[in-house]
Amino acid sequence: MSVGKIEINGKTHEAPLVIGSEGEVALDISKLRASTGMITLDGGFKNTGACTSSITFIDGANGILRYRGYAIEELCEKSNFLEVAKLLVDGELPNSEKLTNFKNQIKKFSSLPDGIKQIIKSFPTNAHPMGVLSSAISAMSGYMESKDYGNLSKDDYDELIPSMMAAVKMIAAYNYRHNKGLEFIDSNNDLNYCSDFINMMFGKVDEDIAEALDVLFILHADHEQNCSATAARVAGSAHANIYASMASGVNALWGPRHGGANQKVIEMLEMIEKDGGDYQKYIEKAKDKSDPFRLMGFGHRVYKNFDPRAKIIKGYCETVLNKLGVKDPTLDIAKGLEEVALKDPYFVERKLYPNVDFYSGIIYRALGIPTNMFTVMFAIGRMPGWIAQWKELLGQGMAISRPRQIYTGSGLREYSNIENR
Ligand code: SDX
Repeated sequence: MSVGKIEINGKTHEAPLVIGSEGEVALDISKLRASTGMITLDGGFKNTGACTSSITFIDGANGILRYRGYAIEELCEKSNFLEVAKLLVDGELPNSEKLTNFKNQIKKFSSLPDGIKQIIKSFPTNAHPMGVLSSAISAMSGYMESKDYGNLSKDDYDELIPSMMAAVKMIAAYNYRHNKGLEFIDSNNDLNYCSDFINMMFGKVDEDIAEALDVLFILHADHEQNCSATAARVAGSAHANIYASMASGVNALWGPRHGGANQKVIEMLEMIEKDGGDYQKYIEKAKDKSDPFRLMGFGHRVYKNFDPRAKIIKGYCETVLNKLGVKDPTLDIAKGLEEVALKDPYFVERKLYPNVDFYSGIIYRALGIPTNMFTVMFAIGRMPGWIAQWKELLGQGMAISRPRQIYTGSGLREYSNIENR
């Protein structure tokens, strides 16, 4: 086994090297504290691996994304969302019998308990849909018998995973109908997953919209140890139930630095459009450290080249808008902004490229999805990825996630707040 050496205060410590199947190298520091009394510090985990994983591979320098070894470009072209979901969760592409079985397991959950519907209806119609989604998912725990999450059986997974896939779709659609003051439409088992979601939302099926959603959900399905997958894994490592763990993922995704960016991108493009389309002004604002404005939909922790998903979505924008006969000026604004930014030294030096969120909102808007629901769409697509990461963590028997810290606060001092006694 190859080892790395660290010299601390004149003493050399060895630590094993872990080499991934794509040649990535990590220093395994799991014994560092025991042998040196020291820990590492890495705010935001920019240089720290949380686990080994066989689910998704990203090569940020070359803009490569693969689910279980399959290129994202090929999966978008040849597969479908539920087949990709099964691939992510099980590790292999399902044969037609396994896929049909998975679809039928999801169809068993064709409505939600009345109590969950009441929770959705209890929210004001202008409540952000991500808050409704995470609340309703957490509340699902109240409708399931408790299980030993440190020792789930295949039957447990075969019940929990389809129920979670069904619930996220139904909660999103019910919440849309509630916000529009419309009666809920339950799931129709004669329809496929995306068509059923469209029907539950709009009361009619549009195959073009369903097909576009299927591709978008594939593109969002997983992205290794991103912020929200980490949140779901951390909750799962405590053996919290699946709904509590997935709600953790939803809550983390909501942040504008993460999945919440797709909503912010459209709001930014609309602002630029209203301001006369002067992208240069906003490029300068984004570069100005004293200005909190960021070019939303740009930059990525891992991709230091084009996010392959952004490339696919950009190309898909034209197809979907033309198919639906939609003209959206923000698409031209986005393209112009991208062109100017990619020539600007600030963005070039920092390797800031459009990410998955930069163009996705333009398609969602053309599909009739309300802007404040864009991140919910991201969550529906990402659900199989969170589930796959959570299942892998449980399967690895991973210890509970509990990072250390370096304390920088006050030393021991005596209580002296006499006046408050
Ligand atoms: C997603 O991790 C994943 O895989 C996430 C995701 C997934 O599928 O799960 O891909 C989905 O979350 C995509 C990202 C969506 N977020 C945004 O579009 C928000 C805008 N982007 C940034 O906030 C930022 O780029 C992050 C949060 C995405 C990444 O932040 P990092 O890796 O912590 O990088 P950083 O903030 O340290 O930036 C490095 C430099 C800084 O400048 P300097 O201090 O070196 O001078 O780049 C600058 C930053 O100020 N910078 C930007 C910028 N993003 C980074 N400057 C202007 N506009 C931006 N968008």
